[in-house]
Amino acid sequence: MRHLILIGFMGSGKTSLGKRLAKALGRPFVDTDQQVEKTAGKKISDIFQEEGESGFRRRETEALAKLKEEKKPCVISVGGGLPVQPQNHLLLEQLGTVIYLEAPVEVLEQRLAGDTGRPLLAGGDLHTRIVQLMEQREEIYQEVADLIVQTGGKSFEELITEVKKRTEHL
Ligand code: S3P
Repeated sequence: MRHLILIGFMGSGKTSLGKRLAKALGRPFVDTDQQVEKTAGKKISDIFQEEGESGFRRRETEALAKLKEEKKPCVISVGGGLPVQPQNHLLLEQLGTVIYLEAPVEVLEQRLAGDTGRPLLAGGDLHTRIVQLMEQREEIYQEVADLIVQTGGKSFEELITEVKKRTEHL
């Protein structure tokens, strides 16, 4: 089943664009973070606190694997760390077309300032944390992606038109 899967750093717009793209394509929208919270019955920050990052990653992979049962093609937004985990690479490949939403660090920083729901950004200087994590992740995002979309300075409408155009032959 060819789903469209949006990957990218926290704050890159996976969920906000994903919802709009799903509507434009008449597809269901699924967000793995929401699935994890629903199944666990608790917020991501509580999962990190009570089960550690490894507990969250296990739940995240389970949520991703469950999507193989989905009959209709969906637009799927996944958490920023999901594509970094090697155990998810084959699953992503099997599920569909992976689209990396690339956003400049300054844009991410603006969007993530004051956020309290993302444990990996808690404490310390936000800019430094984003740069550190991005250094670890960027190459992997690029490798896992079938398509890379530069989101900087583009409206949702422009991004939807671009994604539609670049995926219509798939
Ligand atoms: C994470 C990103 C978050 C969420 C969790 C860990 C990460 O999702 O899965 O806080 O490791 O980058 P978003 O990318 O939707 O914020």
